[in-house]
Amino acid sequence: MRKIALAAAIALAASATAPAIAATAVEPPAQEWSFDGVFGTFDRNQLKRGFQVFREVCSACHSLKLVAFRNLKDPGGPEFTEAEAKAIAAGFQVPSLDDTGQPTTRDGILADHFPLVYPNDIAAHAANNGAAPPDLSLMAKARENGPDYIHAIMVGFHEAPEGFTVPEGAHYNEYMPGHVIAMAPPLKDGQVEYAEANVPRTVDQYGKDVAAFLMWAAEPKLEARHRLGMGVIIFLSLLSVLLFLSYRRVWRNIDH
Ligand code: HEC
Repeated sequence: MRKIALAAAIALAASATAPAIAATAVEPPAQEWSFDGVFGTFDRNQLKRGFQVFREVCSACHSLKLVAFRNLKDPGGPEFTEAEAKAIAAGFQVPSLDDTGQPTTRDGILADHFPLVYPNDIAAHAANNGAAPPDLSLMAKARENGPDYIHAIMVGFHEAPEGFTVPEGAHYNEYMPGHVIAMAPPLKDGQVEYAEANVPRTVDQYGKDVAAFLMWAAEPKLEARHRLGMGVIIFLSLLSVLLFLSYRRVWRNIDH
């Protein structure tokens, strides 16, 4: 009952503050991403670290149902080796049927997708104070400036300002529309042990890495798209030069 009440309180808080949101909405600060711009590519190490953050922290509550384990070894992504991707898959339990047709689970294989965390929406709501954790497959595309936004949400938890009441069980987050979020701060400094020695183990860095990983999850063909775009630009440039030269030649002996 308390859970339903909380969901209602959050909805109410959100709607009550709705007119103020437009005025107070805090733009997520723009970060520098390796995948920005026409030459942008993902940083493989960053994607691997981002996956580690997702695996060790976010996957406890959030699914990633549009991504298959085999995608983790595809070109243009984190590019884990086949053996690594297989080991990652085997670390997840996916739904299956036993010999008698009864539902059971088995270790994941490359062809499987990331499994759902909760068997259904009701269970997801019930386990999270009435607010289900959304699937993160397309989150980086579903929000404006998705990667900046995801990073901002990770670093945006703090005490509510004077006079702002956060419903019980919810949390204040500067960048969440309405400033109230049902997710507790998922990260703290030092929480994820990176293998790379020179990468800071801070919420800020974890947030950037997991945001980059989720950007890849939402747009796995980003690098191919950028390459195609570059190809088109080069082709059009050459075509323009060629057209200009032939124009000069055609009109060479004509007064104009
Ligand atoms: C203990 C469970 C839990 C964990 C762990 C968790 N989340 Fe969440 N998350 C939630 C819930 C619940 C919501 C729904 C919040 C709401 O609607 O108020 C949510 C919402 C979100 C949102 C959506 C915000 C929006 O605009 O709607 C993002 C993005 C997000 N989580 C990212 C992450 C990332 C990245 C991690 C890992 C670093 C993570 N979460 C870990 C429970 C969790």
